[in-house]
Amino acid sequence: MPFPHSRMRRLRLHPAVREMVAETRLSPADFMLPLFVVPGKGVTESVASMPGVSRMSADRVALEAREAFSEGIKGVLLFGAPSKKDERGSEASSADGCVQRAVAEIKEKVPDIAVFTDVCLCAYTSHGHCGVLAANRKDVDNDATLKILAQAASSHAKAGADFVAPSDMMDGRVDAIRQKLDEDGFENTGIMAYSAKYASAFYGPFRDAAHSTPEFGDRRGYQMNPANAREALAEIAQDIEEGADIVMVKPALAYLDVIRAARDVFDAPLAAYNVSGEFAMLKAAAERGWLDGDRAMMETLLSIRRAGADIVITYFAKDAARILNR
Ligand code: PBG
Repeated sequence: MPFPHSRMRRLRLHPAVREMVAETRLSPADFMLPLFVVPGKGVTESVASMPGVSRMSADRVALEAREAFSEGIKGVLLFGAPSKKDERGSEASSADGCVQRAVAEIKEKVPDIAVFTDVCLCAYTSHGHCGVLAANRKDVDNDATLKILAQAASSHAKAGADFVAPSDMMDGRVDAIRQKLDEDGFENTGIMAYSAKYASAFYGPFRDAAHSTPEFGDRRGYQMNPANAREALAEIAQDIEEGADIVMVKPALAYLDVIRAARDVFDAPLAAYNVSGEFAMLKAAAERGWLDGDRAMMETLLSIRRAGADIVITYFAKDAARILNR
């Protein structure tokens, strides 16, 4: 019935009723915290473009994971920032690489938190691309990269990772990783695939943090064109078919429509990555007093959940969890 019988505002007047009729809620269990791991011991180096975020050695990363878990966060996502790089990213599957060591350390000190590891070569290759270079040295060699990624994934599983998360966007990597994990006896290690990962300007601060800026060219030959949404659904369908347990849309904010479309089509658990640039721009505006940082953070995270994501991967995880736990 139209106004004046119907008054939408009745549901908004009492704070308790407002809360009761909320369609979307946030909980610390929705968040996954990304962490950057460097070699060594007792190392914490802040990342200038990401206030409050640091690169840490395995021992410090374990402390951070413990703190996150005590705030109700159930998972961390590890990224390596190694000191050794070469053409083929060999260090990515080294048994005592920084990520492998951090996984073992977290498993020992915080056994109840789920450990996810990013699988990609960009931080491990001297040229900064996500795969090994093709003979023309312009493109990446998709199929040659698959073996190296599968090897890296298996080394993470061996160190104790619960899930591996390929972010390279090579074709066929989920299948290659699944096969290798099964072959090596890691049939219970899951795969969270960065299925619809766009070639985005919003990764800038991350590349500072992980030292993974490509030395030449860009990633548009493998990451998705921001213009495409139907293609994202095809990517996700393919990853599910290849054996992905969790699929992802990344970045989150400029792609909320893609998250919604994916949610409507697929039943697989859906993650969305609230990426470094999305974090940095909010932090920068809040630092200048141009907006209320905490409120903008909570509204942003809520929007990603409302769009349909089950898991929100975010550098805000601890801050947001603290607010929710108050
Ligand atoms: C590695 C990778 C990137 C991010 C996650 N994994 C960077 C890139 O593709 O250049 C970005 C995460 C962020 O910006 O927070 N391929």
